[in-house]
Amino acid sequence: VLLSIRWKDGVLEIIDQTKLPWEYEVLKLTNCRQVAEAIRCLKVRGAPAIGVAAAYGVVLGVWDIEDESLVDARMLEVIAILRATRPTAVNLFWALERMQQVYETNRGKRLDEVKRSLLQEAHCIFKEDIEANKQIGRYGAGLIEDGDVILTHCNAGALATAGYGTALGVIRAAWNSKKRIKVLVNETRPLLQGSRLTAWELQQENIPFEIITDSAAGFLMQQGEINKVIVGADRIAANGDVANKIGTYSLAVLAYYHGIPFYVAAPTSTIDHSLKKGEQIPIEMRSPEEVTRIYGLQIAPSEAPAKNPAFDITPHQLITAIITEKGVLKPEDVICVK
Ligand code: MRU
Repeated sequence: VLLSIRWKDGVLEIIDQTKLPWEYEVLKLTNCRQVAEAIRCLKVRGAPAIGVAAAYGVVLGVWDIEDESLVDARMLEVIAILRATRPTAVNLFWALERMQQVYETNRGKRLDEVKRSLLQEAHCIFKEDIEANKQIGRYGAGLIEDGDVILTHCNAGALATAGYGTALGVIRAAWNSKKRIKVLVNETRPLLQGSRLTAWELQQENIPFEIITDSAAGFLMQQGEINKVIVGADRIAANGDVANKIGTYSLAVLAYYHGIPFYVAAPTSTIDHSLKKGEQIPIEMRSPEEVTRIYGLQIAPSEAPAKNPAFDITPHQLITAIITEKGVLKPEDVICVK
């Protein structure tokens, strides 16, 4: 099993996702600031993976403390640092809240017990995510038919989670249940999570795929070459609206127009019950340089301005179903899930 994140002997190991597919490099993170930096620059990315990494970031943040009187202030500091990394994926805030809760419960106990309880909680968040993804895979595979050509966007695979993946988890499960499927992988500009990461994962498992440019999706739908679309999610509002990688909304509109089912696969930790509608979800704006440069190579006139929203919002009306570990839900029904 591919693990993008691993805790080993007091160190957080992550696969550097900015180096894939050229290099497989495992980074060893030893403090909370390194974890925050890794999240901010997408060395570790994907909503559930960000949550898991942040939970271990909290552990690293208090790991070196030897004086009990310093823990309260350090916890506050560490959580603030991790919260400030990326705004859209709610799994980050969800995981940090779980860590905070565990701290409150164990506060005042011996320092080594407090540290142990935090590590335990991070391990739980990690394990629960893998379990949830496998369950999403089982439910989702039931929606896939033999011969389907499935379009996916960005990377919602093992790399984006603790393991197995959400949208790619469904694809994995369908493939493992002997359904002959093919995956079309949107390259996912500007940072190419589709062509770099999703293609890399599919190749490891010998699942048939082809990479397409983001703008080819409409034409291929019109040609009848796509049967289903499955994507992940960074945050789902209580009404079922979904924030996901920029370009997802365009795909949903296209799928709706062509009568193609559009599925979102996500664990229930991605549902934000505090937000009524998708328009309330904070959308991360990233550096214009991610648009005007590709891996250092300038691809626009120098000084050319660019706008770089990293996510968009797909209204629930365009979503056929949301596949969670608790079942396949109509978007309007996520409100009932606790
Ligand atoms: O900017 P990224 O690469 O972190 O964006 C990731 C996505 O949009 C994924 O589709 C989403 O987090 C779901 S991952 C299971």
